Amino acid sequence: MESLNTRRTVCFFDSGIGGLNVMRECAKLVKDADFIYFADNYRVPYGNLTENELFSLADNAFDKMQKINPAAAVIACNTVTAVCAEKLRKRYSFPIIGIQPAVKPAASFKKNCVVLATPATAQSQSLKNLVALFGNGVTKICVCPGLADYVERNIFNLRKNEIISLLPKVKADGVILGCTHYSFVSEIISDFYSSEIYDGKEGVAKRLAQIIGKNDHFLTPPRKITFWEGDTAKNRAVYSLICKGES
Ligand code: DGL
Repeated sequence: MESLNTRRTVCFFDSGIGGLNVMRECAKLVKDADFIYFADNYRVPYGNLTENELFSLADNAFDKMQKINPAAAVIACNTVTAVCAEKLRKRYSFPIIGIQPAVKPAASFKKNCVVLATPATAQSQSLKNLVALFGNGVTKICVCPGLADYVERNIFNLRKNEIISLLPKVKADGVILGCTHYSFVSEIISDFYSSEIYDGKEGVAKRLAQIIGKNDHFLTPPRKITFWEGDTAKNRAVYSLICKGES
């Protein structure tokens, strides 16, 4: 029998700081699991890597997760989800939730949607299929070379003009974030396009809550969040910053 203090663990994976936005969203819905954040900050941007390179990096992180025996893992990176999620699900037996751009909710209400994405996500068959299925004929994919990298390197000193210079100059009334790093600059993106922003992180949190369910039978001491791999000090600092003012 499990002890009263038994906690489940959920692992999160992103190239860098982007997935912290997803982890924060999941923390609001899933209160009774410990979280471990895996990142690879020194190798950002993932969006410029090939399929083989991406799979090998993701597989290396998932191999470490497997040893923890997690209740679930979240690919908090659109690029890795788009390119590697299927292969990772075949290889690992724990539940794997990937983040996808919120194409369906955006395209149901808008006339002119764009998905902003990294080069690898924009080229992926998975995003093309998603847009064909749910894009309602009004959704375009636009690549933002350099934006994730800029956000990763300048998170403590983001400059509006520099961000705008990296955004595609198109018209849109619904902007769909196709990279978790873009959540940090969603207000600037929204202002620039004068558009509503659609972020897939809420969908991930709901799915995680469904998958791991509640653990009400056990005492729940405060959640432990641990940062593994990459620039752990930076990831911890950025996470504290995004949690500021929230309960
Ligand atoms: N945060 C990632 C994503 O959602 C990857 C950014 C990058 O490293 O290029 O796609």
